[in-house]
Amino acid sequence: MSHEKPTLWIVAGAQWGDEGKGKAVDILAEQADVIYKTNGGKNAGHTVQNDCGTFALHLTPSGIFYPDKLNIVGNGVVYSLAEGIREVEDLQSRGIFTDGLFISSRAHLTFAFHEKEDALQEQFRGSGKIGTTGTGNGPGYSDKANRLGLRAEMLQKPDDLMSELNKSLGIKSKLYFPNQIIPDEFRAEYYEELVKHGARMLGDKVVDIYEFNEEQLRKGATLLIEGSHGTLLDIDGGTYPMVTSSSCTVPGLISAAGLPNMRADRAIAIYKAYQTRVGAGPMPTEILDEIGNKIRKVANEFGTTTGRPRRIGWFDGVAAKHAQRMNGFTESVITRGDVLTGIRDIKIATAYFDGREATTKFPSSAATLECCQPIYQDRGYSWTEDFRGATAWGDLPQEAQQYYIMLAKLTGVRPTYIGTGPKRGDGINLSFDLRETA
Ligand code: IMP
Repeated sequence: MSHEKPTLWIVAGAQWGDEGKGKAVDILAEQADVIYKTNGGKNAGHTVQNDCGTFALHLTPSGIFYPDKLNIVGNGVVYSLAEGIREVEDLQSRGIFTDGLFISSRAHLTFAFHEKEDALQEQFRGSGKIGTTGTGNGPGYSDKANRLGLRAEMLQKPDDLMSELNKSLGIKSKLYFPNQIIPDEFRAEYYEELVKHGARMLGDKVVDIYEFNEEQLRKGATLLIEGSHGTLLDIDGGTYPMVTSSSCTVPGLISAAGLPNMRADRAIAIYKAYQTRVGAGPMPTEILDEIGNKIRKVANEFGTTTGRPRRIGWFDGVAAKHAQRMNGFTESVITRGDVLTGIRDIKIATAYFDGREATTKFPSSAATLECCQPIYQDRGYSWTEDFRGATAWGDLPQEAQQYYIMLAKLTGVRPTYIGTGPKRGDGINLSFDLRETA
């Protein structure tokens, strides 16, 4: 570790998730000392492809592929015990060194009953379904807030975990299944083997994150937080109630990492050059015609966790600015513009019509946003020259350059990198401020 002062970097999705955070995280993880996952759980997924193969990770921070790095699951995570074990076993069986993985004692564990509750709640919502990933995320966070949660610290005392499970499931069974047969997933015995196995495999990875952080800060380590989901799914600032159950903003991620008062040196927004959303909830710029299907197909926009087709939308400048307002990003990365090559008349929303007037306010609830119509810039963008893999600004068609300049101006954040393809080298480092370009 070369720094005397600790350094904090954060990568966060600036839309509704799936912005392509993985590449930025991978590049930065190489230079960081500690990589944190601090929000979400099994609902967040990323696929990592490297020399050792293809890995589907939901809970394990991406720095795990670097044997000299520390990786920690923070307080703000709901950690599916079964999935955590699966990931660690998969990594170990394929020769990945997992000694550098730690789990905060204050992270919450989730189980199959959380997934059942997720499914039941969705069923009972009827037409108001959120379209969750079904991974038990919301019920995991409800238990935490409701003080029924089971924390990772109990992996060091499996007998206590079993008895707490018993208590918690006793309450839930009374609530969900009064005078009915109780499903196996709501009986503590169902988890006996899992808990024993989890305690054996993960018990010694459980640490006090405040002490862990104190040590890293003292050493002047470079800390990287990889945010899960996207900021418009944030429990407070997102399109409530069509959101996920964790805090997805930069300040929320810092808090969920158990870090004390500190400001991120780099808070990097990942904006996709268009938008996607999975599940229900408003997205004013949604493209419901053939063009949407075409982009989905070309860009392979299907969920990593659930395989669901992602809904496609034009870039929404109002939502993008709201993202900046919530997060205070220091810079941005714009991904996937290359997949728009050949699409005619690419649109950008610059305001909404809220039924009464044009506005650039992002409403606080899903219901109000649902009533907003996008107002598009009075020109569209089209280019046909393929720039996949481009590494210099000058390699972009002029029309694409104009498109990126407009995106930069609307976000209010300075782009420092434009992604032009999935490979590490596919991208353009920007040494000048696009927002100041005509
Ligand atoms: P939950 O997080 O499974 O409760 O789902 C709540 C909402 O967030 C649903 O609309 C999901 O589709 C969405 N969601 C959760 N995680 C992600 C993600 O990583 N990418 C995109 N959408 C997500």
